[in-house]
Amino acid sequence: MQKLALDLRRKDTEIGFVPTMGFLHKGHLRLIERARRLVGNNGVVVVSVFVNPTQFAPTEDYSTYPRDLARDARLCREAGVDIMFVPTAAQMYPRTGRKEFSTYVVEEKLSRPMEGLSRPTHFRGVTTVVAKLFNLVLPDVAVFGAKDWQQAMIVKRMVADLNFPVRIVVAPTVREPDGLAMSSRNQYLSQDERRQATILWRAICRAREVVRSASKPVPADLLRQELTELISAQPAARVDYIEFFESDTLEPLSEVGPGTHMAMAVRIGRTRLIDNARL
Ligand code: PAJ
Repeated sequence: MQKLALDLRRKDTEIGFVPTMGFLHKGHLRLIERARRLVGNNGVVVVSVFVNPTQFAPTEDYSTYPRDLARDARLCREAGVDIMFVPTAAQMYPRTGRKEFSTYVVEEKLSRPMEGLSRPTHFRGVTTVVAKLFNLVLPDVAVFGAKDWQQAMIVKRMVADLNFPVRIVVAPTVREPDGLAMSSRNQYLSQDERRQATILWRAICRAREVVRSASKPVPADLLRQELTELISAQPAARVDYIEFFESDTLEPLSEVGPGTHMAMAVRIGRTRLIDNARL
């Protein structure tokens, strides 16, 4: 991959990159379209499919994470992707023979709250694999989804802090008609859970309504409490966190107004879903 990328760069061909863990859905496809628009028809669009073991905790769903490489390949071909990069875990993290792996990239601030509290080793895995993928694919521009807002902000910070010569573009969250953010993990939901899962989007809509109709900033604790009650009324739903913060810095805010960012993680049965939006 790196040799191919070096050849392309030597020929001044622009490289647009969409890193994924596969089991592609319309959210991923929208990022691919965005990458194509960014590099044009003379550019090359690379999509990586790699279920990255280092961003899963031992208790998480690494082994059961949905995989369908044949379907991903067909979707990539239909979407006009030029290169699908599918490394193995052993290639990315060699541990046998003379080869060892012991270097990690750690972002130390934006990684701490929200997902970082619930999943303390998660973002170290993300920043490490994204740094490795950037070094292999050598993209001019890489597209990330707003669906994983904290991840996108951390990648932006890593790129700025470590001077990666890549532009990061964040594309909007793609949703099902009923508002549920598309995710490979929606696959885990039973029919009944799938219906209850719309509560994340309904909570965002409620928060927007509260902010819009309020004449002054709303205390974050009050709004958090109201939304927790709204979500918990679904029998299968358990709130992990609801946070209000400044979009780019993830700085927590005690008062919520127009432009405040909100993010949440909610368990629906055994499936943990995340969503976020600017209010
Ligand atoms: P994955 O969950 O497969 O997501 C790949 C990219 O698609 C991420 O940038 C994510 O934010 C984006 N995405 C997912 N669902 C989306 C939706 N409904 N709308 C818009 N974009 C969406 O995120 C990862 O993989 C991994 O952490 C990765 C960055 C590949 C590193 O392993």
